[in-house]
Amino acid sequence: MRVAVIHGPNLRLLGRREPEVYGTDTLDDIEAAISGLAAELGAEVEFFQSNHEGRILDFVDEASGRVDGFLINPGALTHTSVALRDALLGVDRPFVEVHLSNTAGREPFRRHSYLSDVAAGVVFGFGPESYLLGLRGLLRALD
Ligand code: DQA
Repeated sequence: MRVAVIHGPNLRLLGRREPEVYGTDTLDDIEAAISGLAAELGAEVEFFQSNHEGRILDFVDEASGRVDGFLINPGALTHTSVALRDALLGVDRPFVEVHLSNTAGREPFRRHSYLSDVAAGVVFGFGPESYLLGLRGLLRALD
Protein backbone atom coordinates (compact mmCIF):
# COMPACT_ATOMS: atom_id res chain seq x y z
CA MET A 1 0.00 0.00 0.00
CA ARG A 2 1.14 3.50 -0.74
CA VAL A 3 -0.28 6.51 1.09
CA ALA A 4 0.19 10.24 0.55
CA VAL A 5 0.19 12.36 3.68
CA ILE A 6 -0.93 15.94 3.07
CA HIS A 7 -0.47 18.82 5.47
CA GLY A 8 -2.43 21.98 4.73
CA PRO A 9 -1.76 25.64 5.46
CA ASN A 10 0.45 26.67 8.38
CA LEU A 11 1.33 23.16 9.46
CA ARG A 12 4.98 23.81 8.58
CA LEU A 13 4.94 26.16 11.59
CA LEU A 14 4.41 23.31 14.03
CA GLY A 15 6.82 23.46 16.94
CA ARG A 16 6.45 27.22 17.27
CA ARG A 17 2.79 27.69 16.29
CA GLU A 18 0.50 28.08 19.33
CA PRO A 19 2.27 25.30 21.27
CA GLU A 20 -0.49 25.32 23.90
CA VAL A 21 -2.89 24.14 21.17
CA TYR A 22 -0.66 22.15 18.81
CA GLY A 23 2.20 20.97 21.05
CA THR A 24 5.91 21.30 20.44
CA ASP A 25 6.59 18.57 17.88
CA THR A 26 7.74 19.88 14.51
CA LEU A 27 6.40 18.66 11.18
CA ASP A 28 9.67 16.75 10.73
CA ASP A 29 9.10 15.00 14.09
CA ILE A 30 5.57 14.04 13.05
CA GLU A 31 6.67 12.81 9.63
CA ALA A 32 9.43 10.71 11.23
CA ALA A 33 6.84 9.07 13.50
CA ILE A 34 4.53 8.41 10.52
CA SER A 35 7.39 6.92 8.50
CA GLY A 36 8.31 4.67 11.43
CA LEU A 37 4.77 3.35 11.79
CA ALA A 38 4.37 2.94 8.03
CA ALA A 39 7.56 0.84 7.88
CA GLU A 40 6.30 -1.28 10.78
CA LEU A 41 2.99 -1.83 8.96
CA GLY A 42 4.61 -2.48 5.59
CA ALA A 43 3.27 0.63 3.87
CA GLU A 44 5.00 3.28 1.79
CA VAL A 45 4.37 6.95 2.51
CA GLU A 46 5.10 10.23 0.81
CA PHE A 47 4.59 13.70 2.25
CA PHE A 48 3.34 17.00 0.90
CA GLN A 49 2.76 20.35 2.60
CA SER A 50 1.54 23.55 1.06
CA ASN A 51 0.04 26.82 2.19
CA HIS A 52 -1.65 27.12 -1.21
CA GLU A 53 -5.03 25.55 -1.82
CA GLY A 54 -4.48 25.15 -5.57
CA ARG A 55 -1.17 23.37 -5.06
CA ILE A 56 -2.87 20.91 -2.75
CA LEU A 57 -5.60 20.30 -5.34
CA ASP A 58 -2.95 19.70 -8.02
CA PHE A 59 -1.10 17.33 -5.72
CA VAL A 60 -4.25 15.31 -5.00
CA ASP A 61 -4.78 14.92 -8.74
CA GLU A 62 -1.13 14.00 -9.51
CA ALA A 63 -0.61 11.67 -6.55
CA SER A 64 -3.89 9.84 -7.09
CA GLY A 65 -2.26 7.93 -9.95
CA ARG A 66 0.33 6.34 -7.66
CA VAL A 67 -1.22 6.10 -4.19
CA ASP A 68 -3.98 3.97 -2.73
CA GLY A 69 -5.26 6.59 -0.31
CA PHE A 70 -4.64 9.88 1.45
CA LEU A 71 -4.07 10.86 5.06
CA ILE A 72 -4.82 14.56 5.27
CA ASN A 73 -4.67 17.31 7.85
CA PRO A 74 -6.27 20.05 5.77
CA GLY A 75 -5.66 22.76 8.40
CA ALA A 76 -8.02 25.69 7.97
CA LEU A 77 -9.09 24.41 4.52
CA THR A 78 -11.16 21.89 6.49
CA HIS A 79 -13.61 24.64 7.31
CA THR A 80 -13.58 26.54 4.01
CA SER A 81 -12.79 24.40 1.00
CA VAL A 82 -15.50 22.92 -1.18
CA ALA A 83 -12.75 22.65 -3.83
CA LEU A 84 -10.70 20.27 -1.66
CA ARG A 85 -13.76 18.15 -0.98
CA ASP A 86 -14.47 17.98 -4.71
CA ALA A 87 -10.84 17.09 -5.51
CA LEU A 88 -10.76 14.22 -3.01
CA LEU A 89 -14.11 12.92 -4.23
CA GLY A 90 -13.01 13.34 -7.83
CA VAL A 91 -9.97 11.08 -7.61
CA ASP A 92 -11.90 8.23 -6.02
CA ARG A 93 -9.29 7.31 -3.41
CA PRO A 94 -10.23 6.83 0.25
CA PHE A 95 -8.93 9.43 2.67
CA VAL A 96 -8.75 9.88 6.41
CA GLU A 97 -9.02 13.39 7.88
CA VAL A 98 -6.86 14.12 10.92
CA HIS A 99 -6.40 17.07 13.26
CA LEU A 100 -3.96 17.60 16.06
CA SER A 101 -6.39 19.61 18.17
CA ASN A 102 -9.90 18.77 19.30
CA THR A 103 -11.68 20.95 16.76
CA ALA A 104 -15.05 20.17 18.37
CA GLY A 105 -13.97 21.94 21.55
CA ARG A 106 -12.59 25.11 19.96
CA GLU A 107 -14.17 28.09 18.18
CA PRO A 108 -17.57 27.37 16.58
CA PHE A 109 -16.20 27.95 13.06
CA ARG A 110 -13.89 24.94 13.50
CA ARG A 111 -16.78 22.58 14.20
CA HIS A 112 -17.80 22.27 10.58
CA SER A 113 -15.72 20.25 8.14
CA TYR A 114 -16.34 20.09 4.39
CA LEU A 115 -14.58 16.72 4.36
CA SER A 116 -15.72 14.63 7.33
CA ASP A 117 -18.91 13.23 5.82
CA VAL A 118 -17.06 11.86 2.79
CA ALA A 119 -13.94 10.68 4.66
CA ALA A 120 -13.27 7.01 5.39
CA GLY A 121 -12.72 8.20 8.97
CA VAL A 122 -11.78 11.19 11.08
CA VAL A 123 -9.35 11.42 14.03
CA PHE A 124 -8.92 14.58 16.06
CA GLY A 125 -7.65 15.73 19.42
CA PHE A 126 -4.72 13.40 20.02
CA GLY A 127 -1.89 15.64 18.87
CA PRO A 128 0.62 13.87 16.58
CA GLU A 129 -0.96 10.56 17.59
CA SER A 130 -3.99 11.55 15.46
CA TYR A 131 -1.85 10.95 12.37
CA LEU A 132 -0.73 7.55 13.59
CA LEU A 133 -4.24 6.43 14.49
CA GLY A 134 -5.44 7.78 11.15
CA LEU A 135 -2.76 5.85 9.26
CA ARG A 136 -3.74 2.62 11.00
CA GLY A 137 -7.39 3.25 10.14
CA LEU A 138 -6.66 4.11 6.53
CA LEU A 139 -4.54 1.01 5.99
CA ARG A 140 -7.24 -1.14 7.55
CA ALA A 141 -9.85 0.47 5.27
CA LEU A 142 -7.62 -0.22 2.25
CA ASP A 143 -6.98 -3.82 3.19
C1 DQA B 1 -5.97 21.81 12.61
C2 DQA B 1 -7.27 22.46 13.11
C3 DQA B 1 -7.71 23.56 12.17
O1 DQA B 1 -8.91 24.17 12.66
C4 DQA B 1 -6.64 24.63 12.05
O2 DQA B 1 -7.02 25.62 11.12
C5 DQA B 1 -5.30 24.06 11.72
C6 DQA B 1 -4.87 22.84 12.39
C7 DQA B 1 -5.44 20.77 13.62
O3 DQA B 1 -4.61 19.96 13.23
O4 DQA B 1 -5.81 20.78 14.80
O5 DQA B 1 -4.53 24.63 10.95
O6 DQA B 1 -6.24 21.13 11.39
